[in-house]
Amino acid sequence: MADSAAIAEAVERLLVGDVVAIPTETVYGLAADASNAEAVAQIYRTKGRPDFNPLIVHVPDHAAAERLAQFDDRASMLAFRFWPGPLTLVLPLQPDAPVAKAVTAGLPTIALRCPAHPVMQAVLRQSGLFLAAPSANRSGGISPTRAEHVARSFGDAMPLVLDAGPCAAGLESTIVAVRENGWQLLRPGPVTADEIAHLLGEPPLPVTEAKFEAPGQLASHYAPSKPVRLNVTEAVSDEWHIGYGGIAGDDNLSTEGDLAEAAAHLFDALHKADASAKKAIAITPIPDEGIGVAINDRLRRAAA
Ligand code: TXA
Ligand code: MG
Repeated sequence: MADSAAIAEAVERLLVGDVVAIPTETVYGLAADASNAEAVAQIYRTKGRPDFNPLIVHVPDHAAAERLAQFDDRASMLAFRFWPGPLTLVLPLQPDAPVAKAVTAGLPTIALRCPAHPVMQAVLRQSGLFLAAPSANRSGGISPTRAEHVARSFGDAMPLVLDAGPCAAGLESTIVAVRENGWQLLRPGPVTADEIAHLLGEPPLPVTEAKFEAPGQLASHYAPSKPVRLNVTEAVSDEWHIGYGGIAGDDNLSTEGDLAEAAAHLFDALHKADASAKKAIAITPIPDEGIGVAINDRLRRAAA
């Protein structure tokens, strides 16, 4: 449970360089002191994450974020409008930012997010640390939206988990890079590209580089241990069918056809499907609008 005693224990552990799994409004994160190279190395080891894949640093507020990154007017507008909340900004790194080299994997930019979840906020404020935190799952696996998912992913190697129940948004934050000549959507998420384009008054620049920038953008990610088939309205008998709206399935992301509810249930449904006795997973088509864009992004990678 994430009561004040558990939060105090988490803070103590973080201050001595341990990793702790902490709930956010998107997914559970595997957090450590971003300024401590050994603690950051422990995140990479625990996740089995390739070290060229940089981490998101969590900050309590915009003022704290400015110690780590340079904010221009557009970046400040985005932070003002969407923080605290499920938006990560990729910005130029401050030259004297107190973060271990491995956090940014040597890039001249840093990914920052100010989370809204009260437990993550309490840990940030009580520790006074900047917390590097990727999703709390083994690299490439299904993201955790419940404390049980963290346990399932790490088994015996499990860190302390602050259990605050299911995450409200259920999909990782939207990642936006603010570049000199415009902005790019590096990962679709709960804040939609339309909302950002509307605020900044310009559409996103295409993300052309084959360059490895946001491995959440790798073709295969979020992957269950079984084959996944997409856009299936009628499953075959050895498939666990994840339904949506009027298509019932073995499990349903949202019987009402509500995309926000579907997003909140998605990773839990994939964990359940993975744990089921069926040999494969089939998923009903999900409308590609609003947060449905982010749901379909995750599903394509889960199926790849
Ligand atoms: O909702 C979230 O963002 C969750 C919670 C825990 O906050 N965190 C999360 O972290 O999803 P992770 O590590 O699973 O995804 C971070 C993504 C990766 O795809 C990484 O490549 C990208 O952010 N990233 C980090 N720093 C970057 C940078 N400087 N430039 C481009 N991409 C970056
Ligand atoms: Mg992840």
